[in-house]
Formats: sequence, C-alpha cells, structure tokens
Amino acid sequence: MEEFKNFHLIDHALIQHKLTYLRDINTSKKKFRELVEELSMLMAYEVTKDLPLEDKEIETPLEKMTGKVIRGKKLTVVPILRAGLGMVDGIINLIPSARVGHIGLYRDHDTFKPVEYYFKVPQNPEDRDFLLVDPMLATGGSAVAATDYLKKIGAKSIKFLCLVAAPEGVKAMMEAHPDVPIYAAALDRELNEHAYILPGLGDAGDRLFGTK
Ligand code: PRP
Ligand code: URA
Repeated sequence: MEEFKNFHLIDHALIQHKLTYLRDINTSKKKFRELVEELSMLMAYEVTKDLPLEDKEIETPLEKMTGKVIRGKKLTVVPILRAGLGMVDGIINLIPSARVGHIGLYRDHDTFKPVEYYFKVPQNPEDRDFLLVDPMLATGGSAVAATDYLKKIGAKSIKFLCLVAAPEGVKAMMEAHPDVPIYAAALDRELNEHAYILPGLGDAGDRLFGTK
C-alpha cells in the first residue's frame, strides 16, 4: 500500500456488512438506494472526524460551559452525477448545514473517458471544504476530471469519497491529484475489458435509478 499513501480504507464492520448486500445482484433497487445512503452516512462520519472545531459558550440548564462546534468553513458535498446523487442524502442528514454542488459527467461507452455536461457549485470555492462523492472509482477518469474542475475554480481543500475503488482509479487520482485524500469502503481487484470494477457491484447509476 506504500504507493497508495493517500488512500484510506474505511473498513468498519457495519460498512463491510452493508457493502456485501450492496454488491449482491439479488438486492432490490429500494434496498440498494437505502444501503448507498446508509453507507455514505457512515463513511462521512469517519471522513469528517478531523474537521476543525472552535469554542462556543453555552448555558446548560445548570451552568455556563464552553462547548465545541465545527469551525467556520461550510462543508460542500459535490456528487458526480448521476450515481453520486445517491450518496448526498446520507451525508446531509448527518451534516445539515452542508452546501451541495453538482458535477455532471458520464463515461463514453467506447473510450471510457468522461464527458462533461453540468457544473454548479456554491460561490467562494476557495473558502470551502469539498467532499467530492461518487460510489465508483474505476479508471479514475471521472474523479480526476471533477477534481480538475474544482481546482480550476479555486477549491483548495478537497476529499474524494467513494464506496468501491479499483487500483487503476486510485493510481490515476494519486498521479493527477496527490494532495486529494481518497476514502473508500473497498479496494477491489481490477477492471474488466469494459472498465467495470471486479468484483464490484455493477453499474451504480443503473442500479440506483433503474435504468437497466
Ligand atoms: C460511473 C460512476 C463514476 C464513473 C466511474 O458513472 O458513477 O462516475 O462511472 O468510472 P471512471 O472512474 O472510469 O470514470 P457513469 O459514467 O456510468 O455515469 P452515471 O453515473 O450517469 O451512470
Ligand atoms: N461505473 C460503475 O457504475 N461501475 C463500475 O464498475 C465502473 C464504473
């Protein structure tokens, strides 16, 4: 794992358990959506554990005290459309003050290269902490292009969160964006000839939205 030093596997027992049902071909669409949401929430809990805190003076029913709250910068969740959308609700249920941006990319079926079709993120990107989310990191083309875009508009703090990663995608991200930590629930074996992750979970967008 030395060459993957920016890669963080989040292998909590609950995450591994839910991921197994997510991968299962017999899991219904309804259950698949619920699992993506639950996994995203559990992973966001881990990924945000080091967010900077600041003091806040409050009064309990008994006395004054100094508590801690998350400091300043608003976290901005950016799903890569479409499949990344499935991860948003789980994260904003946990962090309701988070803003949400959107990056529309799809992989060309023949070249596997990302094709861009939509970008919208909140203003002042240089002052925000971005959590870029997509269930799948396969060739890495989509994650690299989305990160390129965020940096181009001024983002300085970006973390990438996915559910299943392939070694090829982790390498591509680490070469293009060595400053961006990658968090995943699993590092799978390899890509097949259609650039699908093995063993993977199939096409995340199609399973979430029932398009196949
Ligand atoms: C999937 C997935 C990622 C991308 C990963 O999206 O959600 O965005 O593929 O592959 P890569 O690492 O090789 O770029 P897809 O292009 O199928 O679009 P969709 O989410 O609209 O289904
Ligand atoms: N996109 C998916 O949805 N699944 C894969 O295995 C690879 C890319």
